[in-house]
Amino acid sequence: MALPQLREVVSAIHAELSVPGGLHSVLGLQPTLLPGAPDLSSLLPREGPTARFPSTQSHVLVQVSANGRELLLWALRRVLALSQAVLYLEEEVLGGRIGEGRDAFGFRDGLVLPSREQVRRAALVPSGSLAGASWLLYLRFQKDLERFGRLKPQAQAHVVGRTRDGELVPDAPAEAHLHRARASGAGDNQLLIRRGFPFRHGGEEGLAFVSASADPDYYRRSLDALLGVGGQPPDAMLRYARAVSGGLYLAPPADWFLAPSSQQEATP
Ligand code: HEM
Repeated sequence: MALPQLREVVSAIHAELSVPGGLHSVLGLQPTLLPGAPDLSSLLPREGPTARFPSTQSHVLVQVSANGRELLLWALRRVLALSQAVLYLEEEVLGGRIGEGRDAFGFRDGLVLPSREQVRRAALVPSGSLAGASWLLYLRFQKDLERFGRLKPQAQAHVVGRTRDGELVPDAPAEAHLHRARASGAGDNQLLIRRGFPFRHGGEEGLAFVSASADPDYYRRSLDALLGVGGQPPDAMLRYARAVSGGLYLAPPADWFLAPSSQQEATP
């Protein structure tokens, strides 16, 4: 695939999705497509003693969230229409918010929202040829709701490190997800800005995890901490959630996108 052609397509998607209010999108490219980006293909797949994060790396990642379903479907249709000459759809996951922001296990997620300054500091490459870009990690997890559901509420809270409503569990074990996630230094929106999108697809429920970071090495550290590499305890959550796809992408800085060549299609 020729990069100029891909750049034109991705820029057209960026231009169209930037127009309507109430729509938020993230666009990422396979890092090797961007000149000057280091080769980080060794990040995924990654394996620990009990679990694994696979690589299903694609050329482009598009993540869209919208205030309403009509707007969301419009955006997804436009992405497909604009890209189908040069790209094919490898994976599509349609999710939706659960209650006030819970994952499929019923736990509050995304509790501590980052400030703009935290996003800038944690997620944007500060200098160099990639200044203003952001490294994106995509992981899709399938959850074993039945197995997790068989645990008593206290045991569930010990897997997460918080109660269903988000209270910290003081005596949570070292293998609790929160402790494993914090072990790499990624707590409190410090090293990465993350979002989890619950989905249901073909009878399976899970979480599409997308995060942004200024430094891809933080992903290596975070993933190894969850996997339990180097004698650390593996994350208890990975007994109930299995990563089935994943990839590392680079969201280019805004000025990488070309000016839109045409805006013939009406927005809803
Ligand atoms: C099935 C996959 C996952 C589920 C269900 C999940 C769920 C959760 C939940 C319920 C919380 C507590 C609520 C909150 O602090 O917002 C949390 C926190 C967190 N998770 Fe995950 N998570 C998953 C995967 C991941 C992955 C892959 C990473 C890192 C690469 C990660 C990093 C974090 C971090 C950094 C925190 C916050 C720690 C803190 O600031 O105290 N999570 N997650």
